[in-house]
Amino acid sequence: MSGLSAHARHEIDAWLEKFPADRRQSAVLAALREVQHENHGYLTPGLMDAVADYLGMSRIAVYEVASFYSMLETIPVGRHSISVCTNISCMLRGADDIVAHVERRLGIRTGESTADGRIFLKCEEECLAACCGGPMMMVDHVFHEELTPEKVDAVLESLK
Ligand code: FES
Repeated sequence: MSGLSAHARHEIDAWLEKFPADRRQSAVLAALREVQHENHGYLTPGLMDAVADYLGMSRIAVYEVASFYSMLETIPVGRHSISVCTNISCMLRGADDIVAHVERRLGIRTGESTADGRIFLKCEEECLAACCGGPMMMVDHVFHEELTPEKVDAVLESLK
């Protein structure tokens, strides 16, 4: 047994078809993303080990990938993920005020999750490539642009 769900193995296998047979490690990002999705937004050592074994990679190599990319979480986090971009274009259009507003509304700081497990406010993001729509934030992979405190509140209230 791989420790991966049948669905995860199916998804990883689909990615493996895109790469040469002796380059199974090329599917590691897609595999970790899928496994994280199935595990409510974060990876456990057991799941990372399972991905390593399935792809024939060393476990430490998988941990390195998981700890490098900001889209992967290695500790339990809230089920909705919010990333506010604070890079230059967004900063010039008020991103710092948006971060402060989100922190105030949720009662947490960046890098923390709400006590009810509803929302994870990721550490401030670098450019998310929506600069012309700043200030912006990504919520569960969906972009929200031209943010105002009122728009932020509407998004936060929609997250159950
Ligand atoms: S600077 Fe915020 S999306 Fe580019």
